[in-house]
Amino acid sequence: MDFTNKNKIIEKLKLTLSPERFEHTLGVAEEAEALARMYNINTEKAVIAGLLHDCAKCLTNFELERIINENRELLNINDCELLNYKTYHAPAGVIVAKQEYNINDEEILSAIRWHTIGKKDMTILEKIIYLADKIEKRTRPAEYRNKIEKFLDEDNGLDKAILESYRLTIKSLVDRNLLICFPTIDIYNSLLNKLYNNN
Ligand SMILES: [Fe+2]
Ligand SMILES: [Fe+2]
Repeated sequence: MDFTNKNKIIEKLKLTLSPERFEHTLGVAEEAEALARMYNINTEKAVIAGLLHDCAKCLTNFELERIINENRELLNINDCELLNYKTYHAPAGVIVAKQEYNINDEEILSAIRWHTIGKKDMTILEKIIYLADKIEKRTRPAEYRNKIEKFLDEDNGLDKAILESYRLTIKSLVDRNLLICFPTIDIYNSLLNKLYNNN
């Protein structure tokens, strides 16, 4: 694919996203680039995936619902993603990235697809976009970021940082009396088991 269209992607995103969402998007692209360098994967792909991860975020709920309904099987929709409109934009983003930004790279599309709820056995690019979304430096509070970032220096740091982000998410859901999706618990258990053999 042609990665030279990065600036065109940025221009178009600036027109479609809110100023806050655009700032967050630039932060995710920067963080994704840094993590890709750290973990020796293609930095250009990481930047494009970072830029486009929230490309569907500013669509109306009506539009998001239409995209999901028309592509439900292709997008492998989990029922828990349909409980709240906030999680619609990740699967819908795959279709927007394809149709509006001409992205056909399956690795990039999959990183966009799973950036909100994550999944078990993510690729390095999927993990990087999932994590960059949580710890980008432009809009995420330092207090929250630091709790996750400190794990990156350790062995298996990427998995440990992701486990910590799930732990914080689950704690926050419990504290607010909100439902926890089964996949969230499943991914948490799987990471805990993989990292610490905690059966
Ligand atoms: Fe998102
Ligand atoms: Fe995001």
